[in-house]
Amino acid sequence: MAERYFREIAVFGLGFVGLPLSLCFTLGGCKVVGVDANADLVEEINRGVTHLQEQYRGFPIQQILQRELARGSFRATTDPREALASIQDIVVTVGIPVAGGEPDPGPLAQCLRSIAAGLKREDLVLVRSTLVPGMMRNLVRPILEESGLRAGEDFYLGYAPERIAEGRAFEEFVIMPVVVSGVDMDSLEESAALLRVITRAEIVPASCFEAAETAKLLENISREVNIALVNELSAVTQALGLSVFEVVRLANTHRRVRLLQPGPGVGGYCLPNAYHYLAPVARGAGVDLSLMPAARRVNDLMPRRVADMVLRLLPVPPVQARVAALGLAMKDFSSDSRSSPALRVAGYLREAGVSVRAFDPAVPRSCSFQVSSLEEALDGAHGAVILAKQKGLAIEDPGVFARLLDPAGPFVVDTRNIYGNPACLPDRQVPKDLGVRIISL
Ligand SMILES: NC(=O)c1ccc[n+]([C@@H]2O[C@H](COP(=O)([O-])OP(=O)(O)OC[C@H]3O[C@@H](n4cnc5c(N)ncnc54)[C@H](O)[C@@H]3O)[C@@H](O)[C@H]2O)c1
Repeated sequence: MAERYFREIAVFGLGFVGLPLSLCFTLGGCKVVGVDANADLVEEINRGVTHLQEQYRGFPIQQILQRELARGSFRATTDPREALASIQDIVVTVGIPVAGGEPDPGPLAQCLRSIAAGLKREDLVLVRSTLVPGMMRNLVRPILEESGLRAGEDFYLGYAPERIAEGRAFEEFVIMPVVVSGVDMDSLEESAALLRVITRAEIVPASCFEAAETAKLLENISREVNIALVNELSAVTQALGLSVFEVVRLANTHRRVRLLQPGPGVGGYCLPNAYHYLAPVARGAGVDLSLMPAARRVNDLMPRRVADMVLRLLPVPPVQARVAALGLAMKDFSSDSRSSPALRVAGYLREAGVSVRAFDPAVPRSCSFQVSSLEEALDGAHGAVILAKQKGLAIEDPGVFARLLDPAGPFVVDTRNIYGNPACLPDRQVPKDLGVRIISL
């Protein structure tokens, strides 16, 4: 007997958000067609292959994808018209890239035009991308209305910015409250009804698109500013011979203090872009921002600072030096290396003449100097720099550095606090006689 589906949904964009979101809907009893402009990605996904690092109740996304493809509840296509022919629920996850500090609405506009070409009466278009405030009103709605249909009269139009963290997508689609806005009350309610298929958390109505768009940016910018605070502090603690990680841990025992962790910088699609989405709107409104650009600058300078730490520790001139860069993802336990600070650290070292070999078991090959094993990265190098934690990186035992690094003054710059600060916690993990200097941020 043919399977009966609760709803049929088209999800536009099959990246870090769109693919797990599609599969979350299929797990909720829906049939999903995923549409992506990248033909190679579509072909890969239809073969059951993805490099995303997501899992649901212990099952890796690869297994879920293969099962849903086999059941016929999910498939991917590059053809929006075919996807839209019979489907009424349309979810958009195509984002706004930033080039040279400027948001580029091109890919989203192109996606919306492809939807407008197949839009029907009574369809729901629910946008989940992070937007520049004003875009729902001034970009999304007018492009969709090129169909000849009117939002709020002929079709429903809603906005519910996605809030998941990569690596926790399936869990957070269910437990994270969602902010929703609509072009009218019916659109808001239709959007909420679609979201209720997957979420058990509160659905929080916003009074207008702009409030929801700006709230999403504030969420990301607040993390960026908080990370900048501890990143800046790390320069002070380093100068004082203290561990920033210990100082943050101690301060966080105060019941009203929630500091974040420092690191080699802030990358990925979400946090740095949020400032670049808000800045032009503030400028246009005649408002001078000072804290937010300062935070962006502090975080943006971190890769340079980490590279300089490494350069100062080299026992030979940079052009004779070899360094292993471990963890290339933009954050711990991710396969995403977009705008990764790790790649920038490696870039600065290479610019100085250092030969860099990088290893990250989760990140698909993204640079010419990426090697496929820890041994290959470390073998004979003068030092290593740890830039992201990663399952399978296999550096829990710091003895591996003593065994594989060049014995002339070997060092490890540990930006992720894997080993603690040996000076502060002498008994923790790193034996005193390791023969390798371990330097924390
Ligand atoms: N990555 C995250 O953790 C995260 C979290 C919350 C919100 N967001 C937001 O969600 C949105 C998507 O982020 P992402 O990380 O999934 O991006 P992504 O780049 O991984 O995915 C976007 C996908 O859209 C596809 N695409 C581009 N043009 C298209 C078109 N015309 N038609 C169909 N598909 C097209 C791309 O090929 C790509 O696969 C962004 O707005 C982002 O800011 C991301």
